[in-house]
Amino acid sequence: MMGRRRSGGVAMAVAALLLLAAAAASASPASTLEGFQPLSKIAIHKTTVDLHDSAYVRATPALLGDQGEDTEWVTVKYGWANPSADDWIAVFSPADFLSGSCPNPSRYPGEPLLCTAPIKYQWANYSANYLYWGKGSIRFQLINQRYDFSFALFTGGLENPKLVAVSKPISFKNPKAPVYPRLAQGKSYDEMTVTWTSGYDISEAYPFVEWGMVVLSGSGAAATAPARTVGWREPGFIHTAFLRDLWPNKEYYYKIGHELSDGSIVWGKQYTFRAPPFPGQNSLQRIIVFGDMGKAERDGSNEFANYQPGSLNTTDRLFIEHCLSTVDRKHQPWLIFAAHRVLGYSSNSWYADQGSFEEPEGRESLQKLWQKHRVDVAFFGHVHNYERTCPLYQSQCVSGEKSRFSGTMNGTIFVIAGGGGSHLSDYTSAIPKWSVFRDRDYGFVKLTAFNHSSLLFEYKKSSDGKVYDSFTVDRDYRDVLSCVHDSCYPTTLAS
Ligand SMILES: [Fe+2]
Repeated sequence: MMGRRRSGGVAMAVAALLLLAAAAASASPASTLEGFQPLSKIAIHKTTVDLHDSAYVRATPALLGDQGEDTEWVTVKYGWANPSADDWIAVFSPADFLSGSCPNPSRYPGEPLLCTAPIKYQWANYSANYLYWGKGSIRFQLINQRYDFSFALFTGGLENPKLVAVSKPISFKNPKAPVYPRLAQGKSYDEMTVTWTSGYDISEAYPFVEWGMVVLSGSGAAATAPARTVGWREPGFIHTAFLRDLWPNKEYYYKIGHELSDGSIVWGKQYTFRAPPFPGQNSLQRIIVFGDMGKAERDGSNEFANYQPGSLNTTDRLFIEHCLSTVDRKHQPWLIFAAHRVLGYSSNSWYADQGSFEEPEGRESLQKLWQKHRVDVAFFGHVHNYERTCPLYQSQCVSGEKSRFSGTMNGTIFVIAGGGGSHLSDYTSAIPKWSVFRDRDYGFVKLTAFNHSSLLFEYKKSSDGKVYDSFTVDRDYRDVLSCVHDSCYPTTLAS
């Protein structure tokens, strides 16, 4: 979840287009063996209950978030007389998963005993020597999602779960606390939005953001629970506030809060951000670029360890053209394009097998626009590795230079930065001429704009934070204006 966030790099003297913002990770047809959601393997409807006196599950601490934390590690100790490799520990939230009846109102024979699935689980012998001693200890990381938790010991594996012990419930001190503020740039350089989650309906408490010296109201959006459903989780209330008329490049603090009817205030944590610069203002700007962030659990438990199907939206060519054509390159010198799926170039093996080295027909309708409007770098995800091309137009390298680009720009550099954490993708064995650097590993890109004419690109591995690929671009406004293939009038590179 969100940590302290200094977002100086949210907006820079760069026009960045974020398209096809698919939240989910990859779902390429090459990955048919993957994609089983770990929780879906649990046959929870077959559960039987056989509580044993010798079996126990204990979780500590009993009170989470005592110091206002919104995430906390819990130690779960468990044991019983008949340990087996099929035993597993489940985390339930809400805690009371046993007494509730299943939703079928007419009650049919054989109706499942449990209609609530765990939110995560781990094998009991994940703890060393569990099979020998019949007891173990596992740590789970829990986040405040407005409900209490309980822990259960099952035997019989995931296919035929038999419940043998349940812990006492534990909960966060204030389950409704406002949590996880997300910052985003507003519609202009001097506006930021803060979006957060709480358990407070807008009629119960007044949501607001305190920032700088000004208190600004937010708006609450209610989410309604389906009347009787299984596996549905109350998402809480989502609030969004607009922080407007920000002074360029100035640091602000902000703090979310809810005022209750008795006048008391429930505060979130305090965070800071740096407002974007005025467009064209000389300033150092840095951004991080990565795609396809994995969803594996930090505590090693089985939850969203894999991906869910992604979605490809329809691009609105007019929208893209409008975005690109309204950039004032004198004041917004660096033009960065970003999309989720590969509309540029990738030597990922699946795309190579297709013969397209991209999403089919991805770049065909866009490359003239990128060339005409002189896009410096285009980023894509969906393919989970790193790859950087030469400056490129119509599949042809337009420069032999690899690391220090200067003067007139005559093609776009395409970058796959999909190593955010999802499973890694393979390359084709034959390396295309346009492919300058490939790395099948987890990593991210850091862009540093020192000023209007000097840009540093760095690719770093997540494992050690060191730079493994980099290049610089040095050029002036006139270099962006000069005519190259198809930027002023159509030509072809075919030979
Ligand atoms: Fe994807």
